Amino acid sequence: MLRSHILAPVVALFFLLPSLCAAAGGCLTGTCHITVTSVKRPHDPVKSGECAPCHKQNSPRHPVAGEKSFTLALQGGKLCATCHDSPGKGPVSHLPVKEGECLACHQPHGADGRFLLKNSEDLSGLCLSCHDKGAFTKEHVHAPVATGSCSSCHDPHGTVAKTLLKGPVNSLCLSCHDDIKNLMSTSKVIHPPIEVSGCTSCHDPHSSNNLNLGVRKMPELCFECHKTIESQLVKVKRLHKPLTQERGCGACHSPHASNFKKLLPVDEKTLCLGCHGDNKLAPLKNIADELKGKTQIHGPIAQGRCTGCHDPHGTDNFRLLTAPYPATYYAPYTEGAYALCLKCHEKNLLRFADTTIYTKFRNGNRNLHYVHVVNNLKGRSCRACHEPHAANGPKLTNSVGSTFGEWKIPFKLEITETGGRCASGCHKSLSYDRLSPVEYHPAGPAGSGQPPSARQGAH
Ligand code: HEC
Ligand code: HEC
Ligand code: HEC
Ligand code: HEC
Ligand code: HEC
Ligand code: HEC
Ligand code: HEC
Ligand code: HEC
Ligand code: HEC
Ligand code: HEC
Ligand code: HEC
Ligand code: HEC
Ligand code: HEC
Repeated sequence: MLRSHILAPVVALFFLLPSLCAAAGGCLTGTCHITVTSVKRPHDPVKSGECAPCHKQNSPRHPVAGEKSFTLALQGGKLCATCHDSPGKGPVSHLPVKEGECLACHQPHGADGRFLLKNSEDLSGLCLSCHDKGAFTKEHVHAPVATGSCSSCHDPHGTVAKTLLKGPVNSLCLSCHDDIKNLMSTSKVIHPPIEVSGCTSCHDPHSSNNLNLGVRKMPELCFECHKTIESQLVKVKRLHKPLTQERGCGACHSPHASNFKKLLPVDEKTLCLGCHGDNKLAPLKNIADELKGKTQIHGPIAQGRCTGCHDPHGTDNFRLLTAPYPATYYAPYTEGAYALCLKCHEKNLLRFADTTIYTKFRNGNRNLHYVHVVNNLKGRSCRACHEPHAANGPKLTNSVGSTFGEWKIPFKLEITETGGRCASGCHKSLSYDRLSPVEYHPAGPAGSGQPPSARQGAH
């Protein structure tokens, strides 16, 4: 760092020529200029009493009141350059350095901190004497900025990279953020903007009014690029609550990298049950409880897909369902009202009063799904018999029964080769048989084929 070839003649000059200045000891004796060395870390030449390399005596008499008998040997950066290589390692120079204003930052005689700086541990006072504080003092301040470690990212003199950065942004960030570095190196998928636009496409390196130093607040941070999701979500009637909370999209997606589909931090079911697996969201049900110990798990859930039925972001439908499904126990039947279930199940389930193929819930050819759900003033929704998530009985029926107001309706379904028997709180135990239809009387109107349960007013 020192230009010894330049320093040598300077020092030689100092000893060969009779010094115009009093001996160094002289400058520092008594009360004269003792303050020059009274700092904790004097500049090397000052420590060794060399004043002449920097100060030239231009008048033989010293001191003279009101007169300057010394001038600087050279001005600005040139003075320092007599002993130091010009600092900074690249073509990008910090303007004050380029203009030779070394003294804007350094104390020529020394200082209490390292590097001839007033406070080399906390540079913020120094840097912010020229730079506007605004960018560094928002609500959340990045830890190295808060401690004034500007030089952990910036070279104060000059660099090869723009903005005086000591290296490419990502490697700079990852040099401290080991956990994210590890996550990225062990993940199958890295979120493209990290590699394309860098960490600062989402984070302010200095400070921010948003959580996690976000350059925008949630969810705008993500909408910036995910316009399709934005245009979908501005329209929907029901937004999933976490999207509107502070962590926003970050509650469910790892914005950096992941081993799971769609940048989820864990598998989908674990993610959903992370919030819906206890009673904190009561009165919403605890879904982990609904699944626990059940012999029948509904197909999509058995495959770990809650999103087979729910849109994780938002929809117009009841309970964020991906297609319409009635919200109530009784629901007047309309075409499409059960689109959710019929997305995966037989489309004609509810279309014909008589059928031989579309359902096994038949008495002879009489479609008992039609009877219960459609052919009524008060159609029963599927929840009267089936559980959406899991159950103990066959065909996703629950022996505990579904809920009707405060009442848990007892419900027991037995399946036989050709039919079944329902013992339920809605009607007395009734059988159905696809090959030899059961005749329902006297309760059912003779010949109507209508079981009593289907009468209006029964549960
Ligand atoms: C590395 C160069 C350098 C050396 C060595 C040096 N000075 Fe200075 N000195 C300066 C500069 C530059 C200024 C002007 C500071 C300013 O303008 O803020 C200065 C200013 C001064 C001043 C006037 C302002 C003040 O700070 O009081 C005195 C007195 C002074 N130096 C005394 C000394 C003495 C005595 C020595 C030797 C023990 C010495 N200097 C060694 C560079 C040096
Ligand atoms: C007469 C030669 C000389 C001049 C002129 C000189 N320096 Fe130095 N400077 C040194 C020496 C010698 C060291 C000690 C080098 C080392 O420790 O490697 C040093 C060290 C430093 C250090 C490091 C201090 C530390 O705590 O590690 C800084 C910063 C510095 N000089 C800045 C300047 C600035 C700014 C100027 C111009 C105002 C300047 N120097 C002028 C000789 C000089
Ligand atoms: C904007 C403030 C600023 C200016 C202007 C500045 N420096 Fe520095 N300089 C620093 C800081 C801060 C450090 C300590 C670096 C660190 O913490 O790593 C430093 C360190 C140094 C060092 C010791 C470490 C090294 O990099 O070798 C020298 C020598 C030095 N500066 C010389 C100079 C010279 C010569 C000039 C003028 C051409 C100058 N500086 C201008 C802020 C500045
Ligand atoms: C003496 C005033 C002064 C001090 C002190 C100062 N700067 Fe600067 N800085 C400037 C000026 C002037 C510019 C150029 C501004 C411009 O181009 O708009 C600048 C530019 C910068 C830039 C932007 C460079 C670019 O390429 O965009 C960074 C980064 C920077 N300074 C960091 C620092 C840091 C870190 C410190 C403290 C170690 C510091 N500055 C101290 C005056 C200063
Ligand atoms: C964690 C690394 C890091 C730290 C610490 C840091 N900066 Fe920066 N700084 C950056 C990055 C990265 C940029 C470039 C931002 C961009 O391109 O959007 C930057 C840009 C700048 C700029 C250019 C103007 C701007 O805002 O874009 C200035 C000035 C600056 N920093 C000053 C400072 C000062 C002063 C400190 C200490 C108080 C500091 N920085 C601490 C990483 C950092
Ligand atoms: C010098 C080390 C260092 C560097 C370099 C660094 N960080 Fe940090 N960062 C920290 C520390 C320390 C924390 C606080 C950690 C904590 O509280 O657990 C932090 C926290 C953060 C946080 C969380 C802030 C919050 O409010 O919760 C984000 C986001 C962050 N850094 C992003 C970045 C980005 C982006 C970069 C690169 C521009 C970067 N960091 C570079 C040390 C660093
Ligand atoms: C696409 C936007 C985006 C990009 C790009 C991005 N982040 Fe983040 N980062 C976030 C979000 C959002 C959070 C908050 C996540 C949450 O709520 O759990 C976050 C959180 C963090 C945190 C604090 C929490 C933690 O996980 O430790 C750190 C540190 C961090 N990011 C560093 C980085 C680094 C380093 C990079 C570049 C390698 C980077 N980020 C790139 C969006 C981004
Ligand atoms: C700078 C642009 C940008 C920002 C900001 C951004 N993303 Fe991305 N994201 C992309 C690109 C590009 C892809 C890959 C192409 C695609 O699948 O859309 C992607 C992919 C994704 C994927 C995977 C999609 C899939 O089909 O596999 C998810 C999930 C995602 N981003 C979530 C987020 C979240 C959450 C945020 C906010 C923290 C965010 N993104 C912010 C650009 C961005
Ligand atoms: C409650 C958890 C949750 C929240 C909050 C959340 N997502 Fe998702 N997101 C998911 C799940 C789960 C998937 C996977 C859906 C699938 O596989 O069909 C997904 C898929 C995606 C996809 C891929 C889309 C596609 O069609 O394949 C993108 C992009 C995305 N999310 C972005 C976002 C953005 C942007 C936000 C914030 C506005 C956000 N997510 C908030 C859980 C969430
Ligand atoms: C970060 C926590 C969190 C995660 C993860 C989460 N949710 Fe939610 N969910 C909530 C909150 C909070 C509510 C609203 C509770 C309330 O209304 O008080 C909610 C509501 C719901 C509702 C009822 C919505 C309504 O309007 O009736 C459903 C259904 C739901 N979530 C399904 C899911 C599914 C499926 C997943 C996984 C893709 C999931 N949630 C992941 C927090 C979460
Ligand atoms: C086969 C479709 C389907 C799948 C898959 C599914 N759900 Fe549901 N979910 C529903 C239906 C239908 C409702 C409405 C039930 C009702 O009100 O009768 C519902 C209701 C909910 C509710 C609101 C419960 C309440 O308090 O009434 C939550 C929370 C929920 N589901 C979470 C999940 C989670 C978590 C998963 C994955 C483990 C999941 N769902 C998988 C269909 C499904
Ligand atoms: C995303 C697709 C999907 C949706 C939507 C869906 N299911 Fe299922 N359902 C399945 C799968 C897969 C099975 C398992 C099929 C098998 O084991 O043969 C299944 C099984 C069933 C069974 C048991 C059938 C048997 O033979 O054991 C019933 C009953 C059932 N679903 C009712 C419903 C109801 C009611 C709805 C609407 C609330 C619904 N399903 C929505 C995919 C779906
Ligand atoms: C009154 C009770 C009841 C109602 C209401 C009900 N189901 Fe069923 N469902 C059954 C019974 C009983 C079976 C078993 C038939 C068998 O295998 O013997 C069944 C079987 C099924 C099956 C298996 C395939 C089949 O048709 O045999 C599906 C799928 C199904 N139901 C879907 C639905 C959907 C969707 C709704 C709402 C639109 C619904 N169920 C309403 C009682 C009901």
